[in-house]
Amino acid sequence: MDERFLVTGALGCIGAWTVRHLVREGVPVVALDQATDARRLRLIATAEEVAAVRFVQGDITSLDSVEAVLDEHRITHVAHLAALQVPFCRANPPLGALVNVVGTVNVFEAVRRRSDRIWGLAYMSSIGMFDAGDGDPIDGTLRVDAAAHPRTLYGVTKLANEGTARVYWLENGVASVGLRPLTVYGPARDQGLTSGPTRAIGAALLGRSFEIGFGGATLFQFAPDVAAAVVAAARSASGGAEVYNLGGTPASIDDFIATVESEVPEARGRITHTGPGLPFPDRIDDAGSEALGERTWTPLRDGVRRTAALFRERLARGELRPVDVGLE
Ligand SMILES: NC(=O)c1ccc[n+]([C@@H]2O[C@H](COP(=O)([O-])OP(=O)(O)OC[C@H]3O[C@@H](n4cnc5c(N)ncnc54)[C@H](O)[C@@H]3O)[C@@H](O)[C@H]2O)c1
Repeated sequence: MDERFLVTGALGCIGAWTVRHLVREGVPVVALDQATDARRLRLIATAEEVAAVRFVQGDITSLDSVEAVLDEHRITHVAHLAALQVPFCRANPPLGALVNVVGTVNVFEAVRRRSDRIWGLAYMSSIGMFDAGDGDPIDGTLRVDAAAHPRTLYGVTKLANEGTARVYWLENGVASVGLRPLTVYGPARDQGLTSGPTRAIGAALLGRSFEIGFGGATLFQFAPDVAAAVVAAARSASGGAEVYNLGGTPASIDDFIATVESEVPEARGRITHTGPGLPFPDRIDDAGSEALGERTWTPLRDGVRRTAALFRERLARGELRPVDVGLE
């Protein structure tokens, strides 16, 4: 039987890349989002690719909406990415909990009711559910089975998502795969706590200065690689409630800025950073994620170069607005 994917949060950064990935594979994809502006997808995909997508405006806090889209489009795989990121949860905690926790329960419940015909469910957790001290006491590395002590409401909601997945497997046999990215970067990453590095590249190309709001080190993950992992995760969910940390390039923010300066001459002297490191572990063990198949993690230098090239190309066509790089 043919695959038909539903992507929730499809108009966000990782959602747009996931949709593009599926369209390029020739897989029918339905893009569900509460928002209607497909600017992130238009930034990274051709007009023909955008035209191949079925857009549905819907809110995951409504179980009816999620069920309707699954039935109407006879969905076989779900990539559940819709969520409110750290600053949005902080600004409106009840809404953050509603979207991230209840919305995720709705997705699992809607899938449970159709488990005879939905073969794969992937959802996004986050390294953001851990505290910086949750790494191994000897070497600081965060193992996949580390106990989480979230410091943000967002982290609490992601921890709840992993619990939801576990309970739906134990009580209902709904298999799923959860992924925990850390600092996703690349075109279309324009909002959220860890969007600063990407916005800095865009700002530099628009001739502006930019201060990244954190220091220390983190794990950089190029958005198209994360999208490929999401699709592989949905296809691999066949038993259990698996969760994987993801690979990427570990680097300090100083190294990131130096990389950008060497790849993007316009950026020289324009990017600074301030503040302490992110309140999450920065050394991540992605052991086990090989279950998703062989993954490519684009080296940071290549990802920065490709991000700048896409921005530069849009700029030359007069199509790169500040909002496209998260500056408004
Ligand atoms: N970007 C990262 O570095 C990162 C790191 C760890 C985890 N994640 C997780 O990955 C997922 C995708 O992240 P992103 O960077 O693409 O986020 P994003 O903020 O760019 O996109 C989120 C999308 O969800 C949509 N949405 C919000 N509430 C909704 C609702 N009630 N119903 C339907 N759609 C709704 C938004 O309109 C938006 O398009 C999220 O679950 C996020 O928590 C991201």
